[in-house]
Amino acid sequence: MRQYVIKGGNPLVGDVTISGAKNAALGILAAAIMSDEDVLIDNLPDVSDINVLLQAIASTGAKVVRVDRNTVKINGKSIRSYRIDDCFIRKIRASYYLLGALLGKYKEAEVSLPGGCNIGSRPIDQHLKGFKALGAHVEIENGMIMAKAEHLRARHIYLDMVSVGATINIMMAAVMAEGRTIIENAAKEPHVVDVANFLNSMGADVKGAGTDVIRIRGVQKLHGSEYTIIPDQIEAGTFMCAAVATRGDITIRKVIPKHLESISAKLEEMGAFVDEMDDSVRVVAEGRLHPTNVKTLPYPGFPTDMQPQTAIALALADGTSVVTESIFENRFKYMDELARMGARVKVEGNSAIITGIKQYKGAHVSAPDLRAGAALVIAGLAADGYTTIDGIEYIQRGYENFDGKIRSLGGCIELVEDDKDIQKFKLKIS
Ligand code: EPZ
Repeated sequence: MRQYVIKGGNPLVGDVTISGAKNAALGILAAAIMSDEDVLIDNLPDVSDINVLLQAIASTGAKVVRVDRNTVKINGKSIRSYRIDDCFIRKIRASYYLLGALLGKYKEAEVSLPGGCNIGSRPIDQHLKGFKALGAHVEIENGMIMAKAEHLRARHIYLDMVSVGATINIMMAAVMAEGRTIIENAAKEPHVVDVANFLNSMGADVKGAGTDVIRIRGVQKLHGSEYTIIPDQIEAGTFMCAAVATRGDITIRKVIPKHLESISAKLEEMGAFVDEMDDSVRVVAEGRLHPTNVKTLPYPGFPTDMQPQTAIALALADGTSVVTESIFENRFKYMDELARMGARVKVEGNSAIITGIKQYKGAHVSAPDLRAGAALVIAGLAADGYTTIDGIEYIQRGYENFDGKIRSLGGCIELVEDDKDIQKFKLKIS
């Protein structure tokens, strides 16, 4: 079974370039099918979630040409099927973005109900509420969501809670609806803004993305576009935490520092030095780290997708920290794995009380989900001794060339197939 094997103890030092934002790319690729002309998208992260969504898009009959690993051309003119097969939703939940895109363009869509995942139940009631408000008839039968509308008309929609997915999905369903739609309590994440900017590059009329009120004037048609996806805020934050946990010095290139503000502020509270430049940030950490508290919130608050990576660094701080997860109900599963590496953590409800230790001890651990998996790699890099991590298919869903980027920073990590390879790695390193 494929695993990462890591020999910890090397501070990560050097430059790393960030890939395109996975969570922007998923919405943008879905929205691309709403045009009948060529749409060229670059700075696409070459990760498994993106590759699966492209297969789902191709399954509708749309033309999908992979120009290179980070560039794709899509043309929705040849779409024949409005039904997305269950296998795609099982692989990635974000296939449900095709609901909003197909409904918005063809007034019809069938996508299987996404299940929960390892971080929580993750219902999509707000998505469906938005589609119904726009005039769609939505039925759920045998695990399939069927949405259909004579025509979609603008409405004033109030989301019951801030939801990235619902904001993006409803935005796509509304861009070709008659009239002016308003989405209140909209999510403000950078990837929501990127999807709105992409829709506007195709001739949509979306205003206010990045605020909690998005106003959309429906248009008849969307034309082709050439678009570059923004850098991945969470990949950048992951490497920032890796610099802190390994007491390294990393310059993270091709980022938008504004998107990283809450992360930079938190790492500075912990005693790291963060230097923001135009399109890069440098993070340096030496000596002991200070404890602090973290509460995850919708953007511009501290991102839930940075919670595990930050907790891993806090577990090496000089004192007690409290991490509160207010977005998902089950995002501390990795704490049991971290305890195997010597961390002293106690989970109480949606908070984790962390008492800092001097250093992790290498161990065998399993990645329970994407971001926790990346966080456990950071723990292995900061540990004394060897760590092996399985479940790395989670990590490969959202991080392009993760081990390669870490090796370029001096980290001792390798992707191995079996125990023989682990022995070879150990011989090579020792
Ligand atoms: C997106 O998930 C991201 N995924 C997640 O990143 C991220 O953690 C999350 O936003 C929050 O920032 C993608 O963009 C593909 P939500 P999403 O709707 O859209 C509840 C990663 O690691 N809710 O903002 O599913 C929900 O249960 C992934 O890249 C409802 O109750 O998140 C959660 O508690 C993990 N009903 C909260 O709202 C709904 O209809 C926020 O969820 C929708 C959401």
